[in-house]
Amino acid sequence: MWQPKDLLLIAVSLCILACTVAGDGGGRPLVTAVTRDAATSLYTIPVMSGSPLVLDLSGPIVWSTCDGGASHDTLECNDIDCMRAHRFHPPNCPHTGYGMPDADNPYRCKCTAHPHNPVSGDTASGDMTRVALSANATDGRNPLGPVSFTAVASCAPDSLLAGLPAGAVGVAGLARSGLAFPAQAARTQGVANSFALCLGSRGRGGVAIFGGGPLFAANGRSITDMLGGDTPLRKHGDSPGYYVSASRGVFVDGAQVPLDTYAPLTIGFSTTTPYAQVRHDVYRPLIDAFDRAMEREGAITAGARVPSPAGSPFELCYNSSRLSLTRFGYFVPTVGFGLEGGSGWAVQGINSMALVIGRPTACFGFVEMKEGDKAGYGGGAAPAVVLGGLQMEENLVVFNEEKQTMAFTGQINGRGLFCSNFNFTVPA
Ligand SMILES: *[C@@H]1O[C@H](CO)[C@@H](O)[C@H](O)[C@H]1NC(C)=O
Ligand SMILES: *[C@@H]1O[C@H](CO)[C@@H](O)[C@H](O)[C@H]1NC(C)=O
Ligand SMILES: *[C@@H]1O[C@H](CO)[C@@H](O)[C@H](O)[C@H]1NC(C)=O
Repeated sequence: MWQPKDLLLIAVSLCILACTVAGDGGGRPLVTAVTRDAATSLYTIPVMSGSPLVLDLSGPIVWSTCDGGASHDTLECNDIDCMRAHRFHPPNCPHTGYGMPDADNPYRCKCTAHPHNPVSGDTASGDMTRVALSANATDGRNPLGPVSFTAVASCAPDSLLAGLPAGAVGVAGLARSGLAFPAQAARTQGVANSFALCLGSRGRGGVAIFGGGPLFAANGRSITDMLGGDTPLRKHGDSPGYYVSASRGVFVDGAQVPLDTYAPLTIGFSTTTPYAQVRHDVYRPLIDAFDRAMEREGAITAGARVPSPAGSPFELCYNSSRLSLTRFGYFVPTVGFGLEGGSGWAVQGINSMALVIGRPTACFGFVEMKEGDKAGYGGGAAPAVVLGGLQMEENLVVFNEEKQTMAFTGQINGRGLFCSNFNFTVPA
């Protein structure tokens, strides 16, 4: 049997090998369409033989159902990718080592990973194997033709698909891990470990580019040229997800929201929660500031507040026929986060107001984080705010693991653009 110190030695020597071949391999970035599933509000990319995987900004690995148990090769426990798969441990999951002895050969240790469903919070065990993924190469203007590549992924039982969109066969983790989809695309394509995500709003498609940019709209305008300055990515506990510091505070229409803390506020990003989740100590001051700003500005006329629909997570809801509609969505106060590095993340109506299906109601899409909510990777204290899908839509966001930074354009509709503007036609 392997001893831990042997694994460490192998890890170190393999890393030296792997690190020397990293860098600019002169490859082309990969592009894929991003679809929002209306039933679950989750986003998918069709990268597994055309079948969709769910995007999870906090997921450290790629997992799928591996053709329902059809035979596949399994990585050995001393494979560097097996160690990478165990770098981040899912919440509420017992540590059971790197794998288990092969039934046919007791000297061989088969690598087992712990695929995690970010919606149900369930975790399973599955073999670590190699799968074929595919997307299109791109110059940032069009898809240029399909590219297949082999990636390391975990298998999972069909039951782990609970809560995911119909047709989805697994999860593409996008987090800051060596086995996440962007890192594997970067290694195999010889491109930067950086990806651009542009999530389309309701019913409209979006686009993701793995390997950085550029990204153009079909009319030739560069969307990547609209990116603001870099914001440093910060660690939050042992989580592999994306976090930044709102070191300059939270604002509503430019006025700082008074908070009971002087600690820098950690802001996380999630593609698996539809609305922003706000920690209790920040939630009440933010809701009060938004409510007061709504009244102060006369943005709404008297009587526009309506009760929130039964069972909804929202507190502030409005009769949407009394709100005025602009290119930035409903005309409501802007919520802003003053980030470390100087950029500001501004949330205008299009990214703050959730529409209630079947009635003329729009609700403030910042909801209170619940104690004991499905714990994420890393555990520990909750971040102040986790921005959800609604807050990220129609905004090109670039997560650059090589520079450990993120950058964003801010919402692009006001500039006449949509995330659905990428030209998906392959040139003749
Ligand atoms: C490549 O792009 C074309 C055109 O958008 C699309 O039909 C095809 O499915 C894509 N191929 C892959 C492997 O994603
Ligand atoms: C919403 O506002 C419209 C227009 O003012 C009004 O006709 C309607 O009755 C209001 N609905 C509710 C539920 O308040
Ligand atoms: C999309 O790209 C194709 C192939 O290059 C081109 O023929 C077409 O005109 C483009 N569409 C738009 C709207 O620019």
